[in-house]
Amino acid sequence: MKTIVNVSSAEETEKVGFELAKKLDEEKCRRAFIALFGEMGVGKTAFCRGFASYFGINSVKSPTYTVLNEYRGWAKIHHFDFYRITDGDDLYSIGYDDIIEDTGYSLGEWSENIEDFLPEDAVRVKISRISVNDDENANLRKIEIEELG
Ligand SMILES: Nc1ncnc2c1ncn2[C@@H]1O[C@H](COP(=O)(O)OP(=O)(O)O)[C@@H](O)[C@H]1O
Ligand SMILES: [Mg+2]
Repeated sequence: MKTIVNVSSAEETEKVGFELAKKLDEEKCRRAFIALFGEMGVGKTAFCRGFASYFGINSVKSPTYTVLNEYRGWAKIHHFDFYRITDGDDLYSIGYDDIIEDTGYSLGEWSENIEDFLPEDAVRVKISRISVNDDENANLRKIEIEELG
């Protein structure tokens, strides 16, 4: 199933993240991998912030320099940034396989970098700018959410 939403602010992107969390929770899906795709500054962290806020977590920061941040609200969130990950060994050294099997939700920014290691049932979220070189529309984004089944 694929859903496409257009948004025009960081708050709206957060809202889309919040709504995905709500949907998974209401479907009683207690473990999921959300793979985020999209260039620098497109809103991946904003999406994660909204997602985590559904579970009462309001402290999400960009994990760029840490690879992984863990948060605990009324669900656990593993927030990855694969920006600096270049191969399977890097993933192994952070305990990726075990972490993503854990209950809770794993969110992975820069999932482009680990395409071969993404779980088959990952929810794929691709964020892109709708127009470039246009100040007036600088905040417009297209968010594509793809789920199996
Ligand atoms: N529609 C939008 N969605 C998300 N962020 C937006 C949007 N419009 C403008 N922004 C701005 O773009 C930046 C996105 O940053 P961030 O979420 O950290 O991106 P990423 O994690 O993809 O690098 C923020 O400064 C945010 O305020
Ligand atoms: Mg980010």
